Amino acid sequence: MEGNFFDLGHGSGKAIVAAAIIGSFKRISGIELLDGLYYQSVRQKDKYLKQSIDTNQDINLFQGNFLEESCDWWSQSDFVYMNNVFEEDLISKIGLRAAAMKPGSWFVTLFKPLPANEKWDRRLTKYMTMSWGTALVHVHFKLK
Ligand SMILES: C[S@@+](CC[C@H](N)C(=O)[O-])C[C@H]1O[C@@H](n2cnc3c(N)ncnc32)[C@H](O)[C@@H]1O
Repeated sequence: MEGNFFDLGHGSGKAIVAAAIIGSFKRISGIELLDGLYYQSVRQKDKYLKQSIDTNQDINLFQGNFLEESCDWWSQSDFVYMNNVFEEDLISKIGLRAAAMKPGSWFVTLFKPLPANEKWDRRLTKYMTMSWGTALVHVHFKLK
């Protein structure tokens, strides 16, 4: 996977560090609403960067709301990851923003898929083992 990775609601930053370990993303970003988790993720990132041989990776963590215009993950990202524990109303707002992503982008969700949309092709839906248990993973590809 290449290009720009974005985690919507990055929590303590586990997926951010995992994306950094993959090593092929140009830019790795995340946004988290809760202060406490945000500060924890900054500590995780610093710890990872200290241990990493490749310190040239561009990792950006933000504290805020992923629905805000200033966040703009939909125009900057080639690969979005979302641990989708959210309510339907929030998912539908995320879906509207995701519709503006570039063709050829990927959007991976856990548990619930993106709202159905002709612009997205759901390429895979599969149970996968996580460090904390099993999750249904959905892989969406942006057609247009
Ligand atoms: C299930 S956790 C996922 C954490 C991480 N992405 C992972 O997979 O380990 C969902 C996170 O989304 C955050 N969140 C919820 N609504 C948000 C919003 N509007 N903007 C940014 N983060 C949000 C929550 O605070 C929570 O940390």
